[in-house]
Amino acid sequence: MTQHLTVVNHPLIQHKLTLMREKETSTAVFRQLLREISQLLAYEVTDQLPMTTRRIETPLQEMDAPALDGRKLALISILRAGNGLLDGMLELIPSARVGFVGLYRDEETLKPVQYYFKVPDHLDERLVIVVDPMLATGNSSAAAIDLLKQAGAKDIRFLCLLAAPEGVARMKEAHPDVPIVTASLDERLNDVGYILPGLGDAGDRMFGTK
Ligand code: URA
Repeated sequence: MTQHLTVVNHPLIQHKLTLMREKETSTAVFRQLLREISQLLAYEVTDQLPMTTRRIETPLQEMDAPALDGRKLALISILRAGNGLLDGMLELIPSARVGFVGLYRDEETLKPVQYYFKVPDHLDERLVIVVDPMLATGNSSAAAIDLLKQAGAKDIRFLCLLAAPEGVARMKEAHPDVPIVTASLDERLNDVGYILPGLGDAGDRMFGTK
């Protein structure tokens, strides 16, 4: 991927996203839509993966058929909302390895602090796709990517549902080498860090915790 930010304007994604934004949408429908959108976004974020060919036999003849090259992908979920993007993506890429990064915000320093970190081995040899539905301030995403780079990751892409301009700018400053794929670049953050117009708290909406 060469662009720093890709907004996927596919009609199916945009229609499903509108349904997700509506406040009356139920938890069950929200979750289902997120699963569907995650598959459509997975298609975009895995664009230009290295390919090779494999000699196979069709019922009629032999051929050199295209196949993915290299080691398995790693999908890294930023807890907890990232998990909402995982299931759909794993249906499409069933052999991907999966990792989790948990961060909370220290109320005094306002800096992200790690409370969980479990990722696949050989990150340096994998395409690492970090998933988090909401790129808001970008602080936790940038911190998660710092940790992944410390663990060896070199080829990283970031997938989200909505991005705020503030989060995109923060990521560009901290990790200009990490392309971002999103379904929408929204207007801005409000004064408590929510994306406007947004869809509210993605974790609460997908897990029904509010
Ligand atoms: N996280 C959310 O869940 N929603 C926002 O709007 C911003 C961050």
